[in-house]
Order: sequence, then C-alpha cells, then structure tokens
Amino acid sequence: MIRVDHAGEYGAVRIYEGQLAVLGKRGSAETIRHMAEQEQRHLKTFDRLVNERKVRPTALEPLWRVAGYALGVGTALMGEKAAFACTAAVEEAIDEHYAGQISELGERDPELKSTVEDFRADEAAHRQTALDHGAEQAPGYKFLSEAIKAGCRIAIKLSEKI
Ligand SMILES: [Fe+2]
Ligand SMILES: [Fe+2]
Repeated sequence: MIRVDHAGEYGAVRIYEGQLAVLGKRGSAETIRHMAEQEQRHLKTFDRLVNERKVRPTALEPLWRVAGYALGVGTALMGEKAAFACTAAVEEAIDEHYAGQISELGERDPELKSTVEDFRADEAAHRQTALDHGAEQAPGYKFLSEAIKAGCRIAIKLSEKI
C-alpha cells in the first residue's frame, strides 16, 4: 500500500509540475499551485513512511516521472479546462483507490489509515476545485476523462506490484 501510494503522490506532484510549466502565469496558476503544495505534503509523508517501514519504492519511478509530467504538460497545452479535466479524472481514480485501501485496512494500522483518510479528503477537494473551474467544459471531456482514469488505474496496478 505504501509503495503504490508513494508512487501515486509522486505522479501527482509531477502532473502539477507539468501543468504549472505551461500555465504558471495564467489565472488558474494560484489554484494549481495550492493543490501542488498539498501533493508535496502527501509525497513527503509517504517518503517518510517508505523509509521508516523499509518499503521498496516502485521501480517504475522513472516512468512516472516522465508520464506524470507529460500528462500535466499535455493537458495544460489543451487549455486550462483540459488541465482541470485531467485533475478531476486523476483525483477521481485516486479517491476510489484510497477508499479501497481504507476499507481494506479496517482496524489495522491506524497511522496509515488516518494518513490515507486525511489525503483522501484533500484529493476529493482537488476534484471539486477542478470541477468548479470548468473541467467538464473541456473539449472532449468524456473521452479525456475516461482515458486518464483508465491510465491511472493501470498505473496503480503496476505500482502495487513493480
Ligand atoms: Fe495527493
Ligand atoms: Fe490531489
């Protein structure tokens, strides 16, 4: 769980970095920057958990480094609404993923569970922010959203194992 969450938060940081490289001076930059800072906090926490609990980080980090950034840049180049469509889709996939972990953890590992619950609330807020900024009005929203969610689910599966 810690391996995949660490990988996911790293991917999130890279997506927002990619978005900010394109949209850093646009009206939505402050909103994106605020979410990016929260992803940094999430990543830092999972960095600590990886170290404390001697978890082997995903071997796919170099892939997520490039893929996350490319997804951020690519959607941002399609416009601010597409960038928010990307955020809404990613956060929806992460929300599902964290919800699954929370129910799987049950009474075990209260530290990890409360961390996941805490971050899940942030991700849900990011999703809402993205929707509030017109994510659904992005051109090709349905396709874009489904494709990104499918990609996230594959990335989650891979990062659990590899
Ligand atoms: Fe996050
Ligand atoms: Fe997030």
